[in-house]
Amino acid sequence: MPENKRRLLVTSALPYANGPIHLGHLLEYVQTDVWVRFQRMRGHDVHYVCADDTHGTPVMLRAESEGIPPEALIERIYAEHRRDFADFHISVDNYHSTHSIENRQLSEEIYRRLKAGGHIVARTIRQAYDPVKHLFLPDRFIKGECPRCGAADQYGDACESCGATYSPTDLKNPVSVLSGAPPVERESEHLFFRLGDFEDGLRKWLFPDITDVRHVQAEAANKLDEWFAAGLRDWDISRDAPYFGFEIPDAPGKFFYVWLDAPIGYMASFSNHCAKTGLRFEDFWAPGSAVELYHFIGKDILYFHALFWPAVLEGAGYRKPTSIFAHGFLTVNGEKMSKSRGTFITARSYLDHVGNPEYLRYYYAAKLNGTMEDVDLNLEDFVARVNSDLIGKYVNIASRAAGFISRQFGGQLAYAGDTKPLVAGAKVALAQVAEHYESRDFGKAIRAAMEFADRINRAFDAAQPWELAKDPSKRTELQDICSRTLQGFKLLSVLLAPVLPALCGRAAREFFGLGKDFTWEDAVELPARVNPYSHLMTRIDAKQVEVMVEANKAGARPQESAAFISIDDFNKVDLRVARIVNAEHVDGADKLLKLTIDLGTETRTVFAGIKTAYAPEKLIGRLTAVVANLQPRKMRFGTSEGMVLAAGHGGTELFLLSPDTGAEPGMRIT
Ligand code: 2FM
Ligand code: ZN
Repeated sequence: MPENKRRLLVTSALPYANGPIHLGHLLEYVQTDVWVRFQRMRGHDVHYVCADDTHGTPVMLRAESEGIPPEALIERIYAEHRRDFADFHISVDNYHSTHSIENRQLSEEIYRRLKAGGHIVARTIRQAYDPVKHLFLPDRFIKGECPRCGAADQYGDACESCGATYSPTDLKNPVSVLSGAPPVERESEHLFFRLGDFEDGLRKWLFPDITDVRHVQAEAANKLDEWFAAGLRDWDISRDAPYFGFEIPDAPGKFFYVWLDAPIGYMASFSNHCAKTGLRFEDFWAPGSAVELYHFIGKDILYFHALFWPAVLEGAGYRKPTSIFAHGFLTVNGEKMSKSRGTFITARSYLDHVGNPEYLRYYYAAKLNGTMEDVDLNLEDFVARVNSDLIGKYVNIASRAAGFISRQFGGQLAYAGDTKPLVAGAKVALAQVAEHYESRDFGKAIRAAMEFADRINRAFDAAQPWELAKDPSKRTELQDICSRTLQGFKLLSVLLAPVLPALCGRAAREFFGLGKDFTWEDAVELPARVNPYSHLMTRIDAKQVEVMVEANKAGARPQESAAFISIDDFNKVDLRVARIVNAEHVDGADKLLKLTIDLGTETRTVFAGIKTAYAPEKLIGRLTAVVANLQPRKMRFGTSEGMVLAAGHGGTELFLLSPDTGAEPGMRIT
């Protein structure tokens, strides 16, 4: 344990409980996890907590569209999220839910304290209301024509065509996304948190004098400067029923806005962790606590974390975060993740197609630098980099040197001459890379590790051990170069362990026979023996990545709620009854079946993403519904000339449509 042992409480942003974890989320969870694992390896006392963010209108509507209570939806998603976290080696110490008793109690208590301090005011506002669905509409649930450029089908907060921002009441011909009805304006009393009361404290916290700690990154401070200049407005923290959330204790029919109780979810998860471990909540959250508190977030939620959250904490008598670490967005192949391009990839789809989560952890780490810059996952570069760095440079070191040691020296290592420089070299490397991890510049940490890998490989090649092995008088030299090389491999394994916990864990336990995972200090102990080398990692096959992208294109399902379309729009779609006359597996595709369909006057080939739910032989002979005038689509496996219609969430939950008895292939569906 280090003398200056620190206590840290670390969080990642809580994912919404209305959808799966995707590669964008994972950028943050990997970033947090790498940092947390690094701190643990250094001997610090780290607690990493997270939870599902369960409240709000989207969760409520999603549950409604599935015909289940929101509690059932969030329970299912919770299980899925936990599994994804576990499979990506995200080492949270506690994973909780904002729909929990702890969160209700803390939210109510915080609200009471804010109110007692005079920081809550009630005001009547006018807001868009859906007269058909009987609920107030969040901005994103209203669409219409842009008041500036007239572009159709724009959201209530901003125009995607000209970039204008406005409020939903400015939209021309607005409609509710939920019902298609024009919204009406309705009055309602809302509760507001007076953010302005905390301006002085926030300013001091965000822009400390030079003797103080900096709580946000420099770029974030610039952004905050702009927000201060624009003025801190009161924050609307209540929503009217129907709303899935916590009812406000002294305001029946009103609920805490999801963003009020979400960050409190950090505390709630930690409180739940305390109950399980005996830790004391107050030690971590009381003002003046010596524990360091860090929130990893995306740059889009900086306002909530750098303004509202510290203000709420101060107003309710708690400590403020030590730092907010904001990262940029993930792009894939230089663009926003997109369902039509097949780059909206869920954690599960990655695991199903590519498999090893450590490839992605490595790539993300190599690209993260601790700033708010966006990170691009270039899929070609991903394959090339993982194969060349992890297999070509790192894992190879062990497989090359271990062969000689196992075959010729029974696993025994021995170093000829002075080993002090070897140990000193390791110390320098450890110190240098530790600094990069500490400042979250993982890219630099990875680059430094790969430079060591290059050096180790060069020294090994220069010694030509395969020649030494032919000459019995060179045994000492052979053993020495292989031992030094394996010490190099050990050093690299320690340096990479925060990023590649499973691989480096196996290296520690099995190959070096340590019986435990590495700590940072382990790299200065020269290994005395190794066990026979067995495969640590295989190359990624570029095909797996291609198939993943293809499958996500094929699997992309239409949006669940859309605005109304006209009957003319509907008539553009040529829906037909079809008979499936043949169905077969497609080599190399996990989700696709190749169907031959009879449309009465012609037969066509259609690739359908239904393999997870249907055995092909079960489909042959049955009738279904197809879109017959869909633009043919070239896929890796052939051209798809239509689309069969199915409902459901995917996986085994996919249900093909069938007409009633009597329908014939080719009949138009109207
Ligand atoms: O933006 C989001 O995905 C939110 N669910 C993050 C919440 S973070 C915290 F405040 F709870
Ligand atoms: Zn516009």
